[in-house]
Amino acid sequence: MLTEKKVRHFLENTLDGESTSLKLIREKIEALGLEHEEVFPSQIAFFKTLCLGAGVQEILELGTFLGYSTAGFAEYLKDTGSNGHIITVELDEKRAIEATRSLEAIGLDKYVTFLVGDASTVCQELSTKKKKFDLVFLDVFEECYPGLYHLCVELLKPQGLLIIDNVLMPTVDGWVSGRNVIEPNDDKLLKSLRELIDLAASDPKVSSSILPLGSGLLICSKLMK
Ligand SMILES: C[S@@+](CC[C@H](N)C(=O)[O-])C[C@H]1O[C@@H](n2cnc3c(N)ncnc32)[C@H](O)[C@@H]1O
Repeated sequence: MLTEKKVRHFLENTLDGESTSLKLIREKIEALGLEHEEVFPSQIAFFKTLCLGAGVQEILELGTFLGYSTAGFAEYLKDTGSNGHIITVELDEKRAIEATRSLEAIGLDKYVTFLVGDASTVCQELSTKKKKFDLVFLDVFEECYPGLYHLCVELLKPQGLLIIDNVLMPTVDGWVSGRNVIEPNDDKLLKSLRELIDLAASDPKVSSSILPLGSGLLICSKLMK
């Protein structure tokens, strides 16, 4: 019988987006005991396909961690011969330094500007400078999502894409504890996720959908008007 576990196994082992370089970063993450904070290989494959189809050039990533998803986006820019660029933001300086080292080691650092700081502060600064992006990838602590949602939409060009990770369940923990947004309780974090989904669902500026890849991706495309 087809079970969810089998579907997930198939998804993570078919058409995955994990190159040898990305595998090196994931092995580094695993050696530090931080596995599953990074996106899944199936999500990298999806990001690359989506970016190519939408002609994405300018990318803002909120939540660098150790550079796994950053490297995925950088590979897309390299493989398509794009002049595009990624700004990635991380609160934890040590993680940002480690991510920079990893991208240097695989020769992808020239596509990326690494910023250390709070996502909300950086978004406000970028907004003041009138910066606009083709794609914003939001992947920070889930409690921050509702406060960041409108800032992220503001930073999108018309038809730009906002992708938000872990919207169906918290990273790592959801798979272990079963905490999820479909059967919510009084959990503060799950309430934040529900609030985020409600914000997107009621936002007339975007068209949204949820994809159950990894721990759930919310995808919002900004309308032209
Ligand atoms: C789930 S991890 C990101 C994973 C990464 N995108 C990847 O797939 O490899 C979340 C990261 O966001 C960082 N973070 C959390 N809250 C933040 C905030 N408010 N501003 C910037 N970074 C934040 C955390 O330190 C952590 O490294």
